[in-house]
Amino acid sequence: MLDLNTELNLRLVDTLRCPVCGAPMGVDPNGRSLACGGTVSDRNPKGKTHLFDGGAGGYVNLAPNHSGGGDSKEAVRARTSFLRSGYYAPAAEAIAALVSEFTPQNGLVLDAGCGEGYYSNCVAEEGFAVLGVDLSKFAADTSAKTARRERMNREQESSTLYAVGSVFELPVVDEAFDTVVNIFAPCAPAEYARVLKPGGHLIVAGAGERHLFGLKELIYDDPYLNDPRRDLPAEGDGLRLLEVRNATFTVTVDDPDHRAALFSMTPYYWRTSREGHSRLATAETLVTEVSFNLHIYEKA
Ligand SMILES: C[S@@+](CC[C@H](N)C(=O)[O-])C[C@H]1O[C@@H](n2cnc3c(N)ncnc32)[C@H](O)[C@@H]1O
Ligand SMILES: [Zn+2]
Repeated sequence: MLDLNTELNLRLVDTLRCPVCGAPMGVDPNGRSLACGGTVSDRNPKGKTHLFDGGAGGYVNLAPNHSGGGDSKEAVRARTSFLRSGYYAPAAEAIAALVSEFTPQNGLVLDAGCGEGYYSNCVAEEGFAVLGVDLSKFAADTSAKTARRERMNREQESSTLYAVGSVFELPVVDEAFDTVVNIFAPCAPAEYARVLKPGGHLIVAGAGERHLFGLKELIYDDPYLNDPRRDLPAEGDGLRLLEVRNATFTVTVDDPDHRAALFSMTPYYWRTSREGHSRLATAETLVTEVSFNLHIYEKA
């Protein structure tokens, strides 16, 4: 039987709070669940304990009221197959380098809307402990399994923890993280400010103007530039914009399955005509610019 005391990163467990009563969480004395209050003698004020299974999949479900939310199994599978093929490796390197630049050594990082943990696991390789939170249980499950496999291969201790949860109501105590990353996922600025330590950083990645322009040229007669993200932090959120950087590179996608997976990761998938879909499917290849805008904020 797995013992969560050795299986999970306990620094990350210490950042969690109960989604039901808000009390801090810890590993239950049974070693198989996370419990609010942490130990029998330190339960929440009403003496009640809420238990969350942390076993089988290696992730913990901390969104009991949102079951079935977030990306579907198919969406997660498509993105996993595309990302694992390495097309976005330059973006992952840029994000990991940015986190290293703005985070103290051994710092704690939260990946809000982490998907299948592609970026979280890259950031963890830089020596940080990373909590990934996603509303999709399929995403959290894939993230945890991938991290576990890589950790076993390298005989390392766990430096990641994955939870099902919403970025708008993070199952995390106040001022716990040095850095929050939010990559092509819903942005909840006030919540990120709450969980950041004073002076901590938020890195928000979104589509640059010409992100996937080559893909749009294939599917649309009149391709258009992307609008900037609308859900970025505003005045009053307690976050100050330091700078905006950009990571741009070109990918060539010959494999039609990978092309289809990339297409299904975009919002254009649902807005494209049948003709556009078939143009992408029958094209010999796809060569396209990939452009990530990286917004860096500091908590005031
Ligand atoms: C486009 S994907 C990006 C995933 C990952 N950050 C990446 O770039 O590979 C958006 C992710 O946000 C998740 N998501 C949607 N709404 C969410 C919410 N309210 N809280 C947490 N995650 C959410 C989806 O399940 C999905 O995994
Ligand atoms: Zn509780």
